[in-house]
Amino acid sequence: MNRKWHVVVALSAFLGFAASSSQGPEVNQVMREKLNHAQKILEAVVTSDWVSLETHSRELEQLTNDPRWMVLKYPEYARHSSAFVRAVQDLHRAAAQRDLEKTPQAYIAVTLRCVDCHRYLARLRIAK
Ligand code: HEC
Repeated sequence: MNRKWHVVVALSAFLGFAASSSQGPEVNQVMREKLNHAQKILEAVVTSDWVSLETHSRELEQLTNDPRWMVLKYPEYARHSSAFVRAVQDLHRAAAQRDLEKTPQAYIAVTLRCVDCHRYLARLRIAK
């Protein structure tokens, strides 16, 4: 359990770092909200605060329907986006079932999706 959380904390730090570039103020704002929910979720996961977990994973999922979120029209972006939504739905489901085993794993999977999409964006930028 402990080791797992070190990975999560390291990943979260990495995320904040890896994402500090710009695609425009609007998407950045969505991302800030997203980061906020993701941090709240981390807090909820470690304290088994199921209510907060459900609230924030639902809000995270809803954010992906925000038109500001679909800034890039590339099919690969859409793929990353739907992989992210699926991971968030898994998290939401695990939280709804109060599953102590699956919930932290689902949280890590969501975090990895954030990193995946950001890495894709970084590659895209290098290619340009
Ligand atoms: C489907 C793609 C995608 C996913 C998944 C994704 N992001 Fe982003 N993220 C972006 C885009 C696009 C930007 C705009 C900046 C850029 O072009 O790098 C961004 C930027 C950010 C920023 C920087 C905002 C700023 O003010 O500079 C943060 C923070 C961020 N994302 C957090 C997250 C978190 C936390 C998650 C997961 C819970 C996440 N992102 C998942 C696409 C994604």
